[in-house]
Amino acid sequence: MNIDELKSVAEAIVAKQKGILAADESGPTIKKRFDVIGVESTEENRRQYRELLFTTEGSERYISGVIMFDETLRQSSGEGIPFAKLLSSRGIIPGIKVDKGAKALALYPGDKITEGLDGLRDRLAEYKQLGAKFAKWRAVIEIDEHEVPSPYAIQANAHALARYAALCQETGLVPIVEPEVLMDGAHDIDRCEAATSRVLESVFAELDAHRVVFEGMLLKPNMVIAGKKCLHQAATQQVAQATVRCLSRYVPAAVPGIVFLSGGQGPEEATGHLNAMNAMGLHPWQLSFSYGRALQEPVLAAWKGQESNVAAAQQEFFKRCRLNGLAREGTYSPVMETAAQ
Ligand code: 13P
Repeated sequence: MNIDELKSVAEAIVAKQKGILAADESGPTIKKRFDVIGVESTEENRRQYRELLFTTEGSERYISGVIMFDETLRQSSGEGIPFAKLLSSRGIIPGIKVDKGAKALALYPGDKITEGLDGLRDRLAEYKQLGAKFAKWRAVIEIDEHEVPSPYAIQANAHALARYAALCQETGLVPIVEPEVLMDGAHDIDRCEAATSRVLESVFAELDAHRVVFEGMLLKPNMVIAGKKCLHQAATQQVAQATVRCLSRYVPAAVPGIVFLSGGQGPEEATGHLNAMNAMGLHPWQLSFSYGRALQEPVLAAWKGQESNVAAAQQEFFKRCRLNGLAREGTYSPVMETAAQ
């Protein structure tokens, strides 16, 4: 393992103003996104959509890395340039989602466990050959107002994340460790903070036990936020403070960066929360984004599968990239959403 190389890739991903585009929707998930805009999920439509994102001029100022799905890493632009090569030529680091999705955890009703460890060492070696420099594994932590997540589900997912992360570092890929406490449900922000605390505590204990080098990884957590159905939604400042407090307690300062998922927050909400955290001052780690929906929702809505809408869709994408780039510095303001580009 070349620690210096892992470290330099991890640091480049969380460089000033920059963050990650999560464009790694699996087959069923991208179909769900396309259904909303009435576009058929064919391989060619998926390829064209990803090309739209990956070729948006100026986005490279704010996007340091892209997470792709297996199919996308094997696809090329209309001109025949493999996407990994195209992104690299624009200074954007190619990454790959390597988990095989979350399934019900046997005998633990309501909990989930992520699959995909079998054969992972060989798959990682191939992804590296195809140009990936970092990887992602998502653990799904269900949450309700009572029993879920169970301590056992937290531990099982933390263990799987650590086995994945160790294999990545052995192969020379930077692992993005993603334990996502969901924001579905009616639980309040305190319950989210308690669950997120237990999860992060367990994840870092397992990573340490598996000899994962913290300097050569990134954490991709949820923000500490009330469930979508909770009647009391916390204000932006409260989310920022609870999230930073929770991370400060459980994430070692040796980790170069924390790249949040958006998890169902609206685009402006996700940008506002990131901005508030960075406006609080310096933290031990870079606080950045690895958004899927919060970067892509307006893009999909503008595109609708029409070639004639590509320019407008790219403009929407650039706008979200730029505003999240400002949120990296704590200089975003909601009035910028409507100001002239
Ligand atoms: P969202 O930002 O849409 O939550 O997606 C990020 C991601 O990569 C989920 O695994």
